[in-house]
Amino acid sequence: TYVVTDNCIACKYTDCVEVCPVDCFYEGENMLVIDPEECIDCGVCEPECPADAIRADTEGDMEKWVAFNAKYAALWPVILEAKEPLPSADEMDGKPDKLASQFS
Ligand code: SF4
Ligand code: F3S
Repeated sequence: TYVVTDNCIACKYTDCVEVCPVDCFYEGENMLVIDPEECIDCGVCEPECPADAIRADTEGDMEKWVAFNAKYAALWPVILEAKEPLPSADEMDGKPDKLASQFS
């Protein structure tokens, strides 16, 4: 599966949503997640993210993010169309450790 990781938080550009053939992105207040059960591993979303926040779980050390994506995909509503990024997006892109400081 592919997963959304830390740098999506407080950015949420949503370009990823437009390209997913199986509509498996789910929307929280300030980030998206992928449902690992629905993702077909096509990889097309990865290069579309301006914040470089999408990773293949095969890259290693992704267990935490696979669990995180699965947990919130079950709780949040599906998102089918791109929208405006968060107002903080460009400022927050690349800030370290956003899960601890910015996740909501
Ligand atoms: Fe969707 Fe493909 Fe990205 Fe999985 S890898 S979330 S199927 S676009
Ligand atoms: Fe997040 Fe990147 Fe999508 S910032 S909303 S994973 S395009």
